[in-house]
This record gives sequence, C-alpha cells and structure tokens, in this order.
Amino acid sequence: MVKNELKSIKILAQKEIEKAKNLKELNRVFKKYLGKKGKLSLILGSLKELPLEERKKIGKKANELKNVLEGKFDKKIQEIRKQAKKGIGKKEWVDVTIPGKKIALGHLHPLTLIKREVCQIFQQMGFEVVEGPEIETEWYNFDALNIPKDHPARDEWDTLWLRQNKLLLRTHTSPVQIRYMEKHKPPLRIIALGKVFRHEATDASHEMQFYQVEGLMVGKEISVANFKAVIQEFFGKFFKKPIKVRLSPDYFSFTEPSFDISITCVVCGGKGCSVCKRTGWLEMMGAGTVHPSVFKNSGLDPKNWQGFAFGMGLDRLAMMKYKINDIRLFHSGDLRFLKQF
Ligand code: DAH
Repeated sequence: MVKNELKSIKILAQKEIEKAKNLKELNRVFKKYLGKKGKLSLILGSLKELPLEERKKIGKKANELKNVLEGKFDKKIQEIRKQAKKGIGKKEWVDVTIPGKKIALGHLHPLTLIKREVCQIFQQMGFEVVEGPEIETEWYNFDALNIPKDHPARDEWDTLWLRQNKLLLRTHTSPVQIRYMEKHKPPLRIIALGKVFRHEATDASHEMQFYQVEGLMVGKEISVANFKAVIQEFFGKFFKKPIKVRLSPDYFSFTEPSFDISITCVVCGGKGCSVCKRTGWLEMMGAGTVHPSVFKNSGLDPKNWQGFAFGMGLDRLAMMKYKINDIRLFHSGDLRFLKQF
C-alpha cells in the first residue's frame, strides 16, 4: 500500500516540479509533498507505526525519495532564478505613466550661432551672403588687393604657404571682394563669412584658424557715411543696445582712406574696465573706402564706382557677446564649454 503511494508521489511530484513556472508555484509543490503536512512528510512520520521489517524497507525508500525530490527542487530553483535574470518568463509589463527617456538633441556651436545671426542682420539690410575658397592663390590673397610681393604690408599676415603653384591658406576673407567683383557688376552689397588661417603662436586671443566676416558695398555714390550707418545698425542689433562707433585712421593697402573701427565697450558701457583696457572702446574691425587698384584688378573702372569694405573677426564677436575669455575654447572640443550654448 505505502509502497504504491511512494511510487505515485515520485511520479506526480517530479511532474509538478518540472511544470512550476516560478518560485511561488514551486513553493506550493514543495509544501504539498515535503512541507510539515506534506504527503511524503506524513509517510515518514507514520513509519514508526509500521512493523519493524516493513519500517526498514519503506523507511529506506521514503528517505531515498525525499533526497531525490530535494535535489530536484534545488535544481529547479536555480533554473527559475537564471531565467528570471534573463527576463524569460517575466510577464511583460509597461507602465505608461513613467515619463519617457529624453532623446539627447544636439545643438549648434557658438560660432555657428554667431555666423547665423550676423548673416541675418546683414541680409535684413539687403546684403547677399557669398563664399570664397579657403585655399587661395597669391594673386587673390595679396597682389589683387594691392599688396605686391616685397611690400611690408605682407608681413602683417603670417602666411601658411602650400608647396604647389604658390597656393596658400587664405589669411583673410578680403580676396572674396575681388572674386565677386570679377563676376558681378555693381551696384552690390555682399558679406562673406569663413575660415582664415595664420601662422601664429596661439594664446588666449590668437588662433591659427579663426573666422572672419568681410563686407563690401559698391555703387555710384557709396560713402563713409553709408558705412557708418550700416555698421552702427549692425552692432546695435547684434548687441541689442545702442552702440557708438568710432573711426580712427589706419592703413590697409586695399582701402584708401582706411579706418580702425571701435565700438563703445559692451561690458562697461564706455566707462573703462579690464575688457576694454580702461579705454571705454573695443577695437572690432578694419575698414575703408575701396582702393582704385582693387577696382582695376577686378575689371571695374574706378572712375565709375566707389564703395566701402570691412573685415572683422567672428570669434571676437562671439567672445564679446558670450563673454568668453579664451579663443582656444572654440576648437577645444570641450563639452563643458560647448554645453553652455
Ligand atoms: N583683411 C583685413 C585683415 O584681415 C581686415 C580688413 C581691413 C578687411 C580693411 C577689409 C578692410 O575689407 O577694408 O586684417
């Protein structure tokens, strides 16, 4: 009788252990057979009531079965835990109330932001945005701009020469003036933005690569008065406050007369601070009225046309606007810097 019972326990218990899908179910099976009132536990508890001979035989079988089942339970527990780790057998469940993961969006480099803003302001004043090559010929970068070989003005630009055909990395955006006037008849209003290169030691305010914006306006009667109005309007819009512009005499081979342009210090408002070196003025750009030779070199008759040109560092504009104290940060790739924009 008891022997048969053990047989059926063996078969059923093993099947149920095998079927259990989680620890809760397995625990129920354990209780059913090996718990205090479990089927096998009850048999083991009642052994003492059996005659000695039978007690020995059945006792041995029952204990063996107990060991077997315990082994099976252990094995199954490991299996369930492993599956749970893999996520198999876990009920899939979506909590729709949890806020979604934010997708990290990229954003624009501070110089790109400035570039776009400068373009927008000049476009509103009717200027067209044009481009020129970064690798230039000696002619466009120097000669056509009235800076002949051996002229001391060339020393102002520490040039990176390329080995072939007297090519160079443009030292300024001014060659775009010539390139544009060769192909377009005035009246014209353009700005050209882009990278320029100088063979210079770097420090907080000098880089080997930086950006410039070049401006050129040519017509029958374009004068310095027009220039002053345009540039004052630009700075006012760019810094979002009224800005005074100061013209002082300077020298550039491609303009005559030439000016150095300063604006009231945007940090102290003109009172004098460390940024403007206590002068109340910030030097922002070079400018002047287009030199007759520049018109000639572009195929235009200087008797028919006059105009102004200017060139300014975009990096410097960005540094003023965002109060950045080291130009090298722009190309550092430092995320702590970039994430602030
Ligand atoms: N190209 C000059 C430089 O890089 C800046 C400049 C001065 C541009 C006067 C001009 C200008 O168009 O008229 O230093």
